[in-house]
Amino acid sequence: MAIPAPPRKKRVTHSHARRRKLRQVQKTDALHATVPANHRICLAHNAEQVETAFDTEHILNGTTSGYLGRERLDQETIDQRPVYSLDELVGPTSEWGFEVIEADVNNPGPTFFTDINNQVFVLRIPPPQGDETFFHDAQEAAGVFEKFRPYLFKDGKPRKTHRRGDFPVAPIGISYGGGQDHPKRIYYKGLDLYALERIRNLPCINRLAAHASRAFAMWLPNLYSFYAGYMTRLLTLVPDIVFNWKDSIFACCTINFGPQTTTIPHVDYMNYVYGLCAVTALGDFDYRQGGHLVLWDLGVVVEFPPGWTMLIPSAYLLHSNTSIGEDESRYSITQYTAAGLFRIIDDNRVPLNQMTAEQRELADQRHAERKTEALNRYTTVKKKLAAKHLSHCSILLSQISLYSYP
Ligand SMILES: [Fe+2]
Repeated sequence: MAIPAPPRKKRVTHSHARRRKLRQVQKTDALHATVPANHRICLAHNAEQVETAFDTEHILNGTTSGYLGRERLDQETIDQRPVYSLDELVGPTSEWGFEVIEADVNNPGPTFFTDINNQVFVLRIPPPQGDETFFHDAQEAAGVFEKFRPYLFKDGKPRKTHRRGDFPVAPIGISYGGGQDHPKRIYYKGLDLYALERIRNLPCINRLAAHASRAFAMWLPNLYSFYAGYMTRLLTLVPDIVFNWKDSIFACCTINFGPQTTTIPHVDYMNYVYGLCAVTALGDFDYRQGGHLVLWDLGVVVEFPPGWTMLIPSAYLLHSNTSIGEDESRYSITQYTAAGLFRIIDDNRVPLNQMTAEQRELADQRHAERKTEALNRYTTVKKKLAAKHLSHCSILLSQISLYSYP
């Protein structure tokens, strides 16, 4: 018997090896989310609970699968593009009568919102305490967006209208949908590519992105692990895919270039329905007067200072921002993972329109059945534990169910 020849070794160039190593580092860091001890403390210290009567068990009502959310506004409302002021929502003459959830910037701590079953489903995270360099990074990021806006957007105007408001945006990262064969990075070229890559690679942007993922990993570890499992499978299915940041679990982000990023009421129903979206506010505005995150289903207006991050289930909670002053600026970084990405991973990278009839039938069945699976991976907070370890502030909100926007 002839001795079989040894398997041919694939020639590996240094640059390939380096790229492979970088991907390995990226995978390890992002998916395992080691949260340094000092960062862990700042993400938990002085935490406050906001209890709500919202029930996250019913969020799949009206959806078509266990992946996508659903649009909740009619076209007429979207076309009106209303941006509300704080007074319109909470003032004595307000028709809404929403409650303000204040932020204490002098003694900051995370605020976690729980549903009727005491599950954490919304978070507000302050910057790391006692670390002025984080504020510098947040300010630097805002300055960079301001600087690059004229290069990316002619006359500073949005290139096309979008559902979230009237300010220019640029998505960066991994997408799937719209007839794509497989998940890939959103394509840019020329000056756009240069500018957005410059922004993406800045240390200040990396740091803001990592802060959000660490908060996610620490407060919702089960859901975070679920994301990590899917992102690991994505790396197996598309080995050359590159994430935005090595310490971020999210596949994509949108930079909201301002100068006045104030969103109209909307749901990001293309995001994974049980997932979270991380929004980091930046800019120069009085957070007590404007830039709040309005959570319509919860009846609250949440103070949202620059440098702070909110993690919200944006695929089903109706949300918007309050208006800011004319001479003020607000920008934001929004990180998320599209629902379609989870689905194509479950479908083993075979797009629906390339499936055989048999494959399609099985996939449709699998997607429909997903609605009956236990997808809710929020963290349950034990009441006694919460009372013992958390501060005094606990607000019971009563009027909750999916809000029907008039
Ligand atoms: Fe949103």
